Amino acid sequence: MWGDKMGREFIELFNEWSDSYDDTVRGLDVEYKKVFENYDQILDYVADKVDGTVMEFGVGTGNLTKKLVERKCQVIGIEPSPLMRQKAKEKIRQVEIMDGDFLEFPKDEPIHAFVSSYAFHHLTDTEKKLAIDKYTNLLPTGGKIVFADTIFLTEDEKFDRIKLAEKEHFLNLANDLRTEFYTTIPRIKDMFEQNSFSIHFTKMNDFVWVFEAIKK
Ligand SMILES: C[S@@+](CC[C@H](N)C(=O)[O-])C[C@H]1O[C@@H](n2cnc3c(N)ncnc32)[C@H](O)[C@@H]1O
Repeated sequence: MWGDKMGREFIELFNEWSDSYDDTVRGLDVEYKKVFENYDQILDYVADKVDGTVMEFGVGTGNLTKKLVERKCQVIGIEPSPLMRQKAKEKIRQVEIMDGDFLEFPKDEPIHAFVSSYAFHHLTDTEKKLAIDKYTNLLPTGGKIVFADTIFLTEDEKFDRIKLAEKEHFLNLANDLRTEFYTTIPRIKDMFEQNSFSIHFTKMNDFVWVFEAIKK
């Protein structure tokens, strides 16, 4: 079914990470402490922006999913890693979490909002644009896309962050920043504005921004 990779090249890594992932988000892995700084507030911020039927991509261990359910959203969870799906199902039993990804997912009912945290960088910029085109066709006017992710103001800022990580001997972090598809705010802004969205960015820590796009 998933013949070409289309953003699914990281699944094995997440299967392996599923047991210790919740320790990492609590700041126990020093390399990623700053990436996950204010993690709970970031997820609260995303969850507070949406209501109705919400599709969440890359649910991981289900931390954002849980917050959406607490706010009475009807959540459709999409997660490509089987072991992450298992962890999320243990945490929130009442939500259906399905196999799928940012680009391939079941779409049986009207969606009011798409959300995601710490995952959109698994798509190349070309794939990100394809995904946004797809969501545009599925959302009503006023529908939202609210994503939290590591994103940079400029390529220079990204380069400086990689250099700093290397200087601090955070070599896993430096390697992630180099090899995954972290993009810039102007590129994301352009992708959404081409699809008639208004978009607003909020900085949450040294790495993570939340962007809230509303379909005009
Ligand atoms: C860093 S975790 C984030 C988990 C959770 N959203 C959170 O905020 O803690 C990234 C998640 O995205 C998933 N993922 C990887 N590639 C994906 C893709 N192409 N589409 C959707 N999810 C993907 C991974 O399996 C993993 O569960």
